[in-house]
Amino acid sequence: MNLRIPGPTPCPDQVLKAMGKQMINHRGKEFRSILEQVTQRLKIVYQTTGDVFVLTCSGTGGMEAAIVNTLSPGDGILATTSGAFGNRFAEIGEAFGGRVQRLQFEWGKPVEAEAVKKALEDDPSIKAVLVTHNETSTGVTNDVKAISAVAKKAGKLLLVDAISSLGSIDLQTDNWKCDVVVTCSQKGLMSPPGLAAVSFSEQAWQAQKTAKMPRYNWDFAKARSFQQKGETPWTPAVSAVYAVNAALEMIIQEGLPRIFQRQARISRMVREGVKSLGLELFGDEKCPSDIITAVKATNGLDPKKLLNVMEDKYDVILAGGQQKLDGKIFRIGHLGWVSEKEIENVLASLKKALPEAGFNK
Ligand SMILES: Cc1ncc(COP(=O)(O)O)c(C=O)c1O
Repeated sequence: MNLRIPGPTPCPDQVLKAMGKQMINHRGKEFRSILEQVTQRLKIVYQTTGDVFVLTCSGTGGMEAAIVNTLSPGDGILATTSGAFGNRFAEIGEAFGGRVQRLQFEWGKPVEAEAVKKALEDDPSIKAVLVTHNETSTGVTNDVKAISAVAKKAGKLLLVDAISSLGSIDLQTDNWKCDVVVTCSQKGLMSPPGLAAVSFSEQAWQAQKTAKMPRYNWDFAKARSFQQKGETPWTPAVSAVYAVNAALEMIIQEGLPRIFQRQARISRMVREGVKSLGLELFGDEKCPSDIITAVKATNGLDPKKLLNVMEDKYDVILAGGQQKLDGKIFRIGHLGWVSEKEIENVLASLKKALPEAGFNK
């Protein structure tokens, strides 16, 4: 099977093997040293010397943790959004009583730093800016460095959803002054679902002291006190921790610069390949994602039929469009453990499947 959705991604054999290990005491010596190693390795991938916490949940739990640990009900939140995941971050802010202002861009377009600057000038009471590094629903990567520059200049907290990008697309947590960055295990980290990770800056800790949004499971004051003794507050997904540790070892061995180059090369290959089949890309080509490519359903193409034909006849699993893009696009995931050979297989299968799904060049 060629699983090409934007997570869960296929896991390398070393990761699957690590995951199959026997349980150990999650408050014992051996687990402490594994957790410590995972945390240190995550800091390398995050490009931070600050705190990073491992949480047992999917990425969305990490997004919630980012919000509730830094903000209070009534706080002004500027939620930048140009897709389903930007909207999700905004909804979490609203669910906990934040005064959310959505800075909306057309789906498929990037978030513009200039517009963020203007929105912050227009409403100085805003406390935090939310940004999605890679908008997985549209195949667009946002310029977090530029957005951070305006947010930090205005003295705001910057909370980043890097769930689909961390470890695959460059994100320099410290250099770009990102206060909170969220990721999870089943995407760039090439592991099964089960863990999220969240980085937390000094400014985030300052905000944490007065943040009043309700929290218990995700309370980072507790997470920090347990981390100091090599533990998590609650029972962690031990097998997922084994898996992520093995994946991080592989990532660090390959080296971030080489991974980023490989991702860029593979995404170029996908984009050129789909265009050569007569298809059109969905997202703005000035800021294409290196981990997912969204393709328009043009020329009579029925994307749902295409997904079925690809799966049933060619054993290639692609993703459809989300929310308002349902039935309008299909998406090819190329993150985590991915090689050129798998993309060749996707393109060759697409070539055969497209006419069967109504596509007429
Ligand atoms: C950018 C982004 N944010 C958030 C999520 C949600 O992550 P999860 O499904 O692990 O909760 C995803 C999942 O695809 C994502 O791509």
